[in-house]
Amino acid sequence: MQNVLLVGFGFMGKMHAEIYRSLPEVCLVGVVDPRGESLREDLRVCGLGSVPIFGDFESAREQADFSAVDICLPTDLHREAALSAFAAGKHVFCEKPIAITREDALAMIDAARAADRQLMVGHCIRFWPEYLELKRLVDSGERGSLVSLSMVRRTGRPGYSVGDWVNQPERCLGAALDLHIHDSDFLMHLLGAPESVISQGIRDETGWSSIATQYGYGDRIVTAEGAWNYPASWGFQMRFTAVFESAVLDYDSRSDPTFAITPAIGDAAPVALPVSSADGYHGELAHFIACLEEDKPVAISTGEQAAASLNLVLAEIESARSGERITINQPLCKK
Ligand SMILES: NC(=O)c1ccc[n+]([C@@H]2O[C@H](COP(=O)([O-])OP(=O)(O)OC[C@H]3O[C@@H](n4cnc5c(N)ncnc54)[C@H](O)[C@@H]3O)[C@@H](O)[C@H]2O)c1
Repeated sequence: MQNVLLVGFGFMGKMHAEIYRSLPEVCLVGVVDPRGESLREDLRVCGLGSVPIFGDFESAREQADFSAVDICLPTDLHREAALSAFAAGKHVFCEKPIAITREDALAMIDAARAADRQLMVGHCIRFWPEYLELKRLVDSGERGSLVSLSMVRRTGRPGYSVGDWVNQPERCLGAALDLHIHDSDFLMHLLGAPESVISQGIRDETGWSSIATQYGYGDRIVTAEGAWNYPASWGFQMRFTAVFESAVLDYDSRSDPTFAITPAIGDAAPVALPVSSADGYHGELAHFIACLEEDKPVAISTGEQAAASLNLVLAEIESARSGERITINQPLCKK
């Protein structure tokens, strides 16, 4: 059984609490959030009405018994919270992106190593069923080599964050980091680091609200676009089109069917693929807890991998700012 302390009970904190309730190996022993008892009703709605709420991490550390901390804080607060958790000898699951700067990410990785504790980052797309199938096809070569890949993530401007931190560029860096990193990170997982990137972006008073990147992967054409400058009523879309030598795999959260494969044989029609009801949020937390239960290192979405993905997105932002192609220097840290 893993006793977990949840730090930050906003949009993602609530989602994680509900997932923990469904994982039999987890006991949520407390929530840390300065909004305190005003969150009691939200906890009740998650079926966790009796879980204690602490105003800060120190109070929780003194009063609760836990081995892992789940950080669902605004991104600029990840470093301090992670360092406190490691100093207290706890394992850490931290929401994505790992941090705003390379320095913060490296400090978190160093602290995890010094404490000999696990650090996993919530890059949920690595666990998303349709993206798992894309990775399976690339790794197995079942449909031939991957020739080209385009990825898209679009939505309205987020208005839900507590204190509106998401729309403060120095706390979030805009859609380029907060949203688009899902696809940059998945590309790192799928294909490794590209040689270079060239990006275009749109910057407004809330940060980089749109970014589009072409990644240097040799002869393969690989692009991704991430933007939250759509009207709120437009909704959300994540999509990819992967062209293999002998088929095209399509996923589009706004289409019906959402997931299909079109064999490159004569005039074969697209075939709808089964869609799992599971999602990546459940998968990533289940992986973290399983690694703790089995006392083995986190393999997918480690701190090091998340730092490398942050490094990639920061290079994309640098390219959008300068108009120049940026070479990716990997690895950001060893391992
Ligand atoms: N994986 C995903 O798909 C996904 C989606 C949304 C957000 N996120 C990430 O999750 C993280 C949290 O985002 P969110 O949307 O939940 O934000 P949010 O604003 O909804 O919630 C943040 C919570 O942290 C609390 N908080 C602020 N300072 C605190 C402190 N010092 N100690 C304890 N609690 C404190 C706030 O009161 C609030 O409840 C961010 O890093 C964000 O990028 C990930």
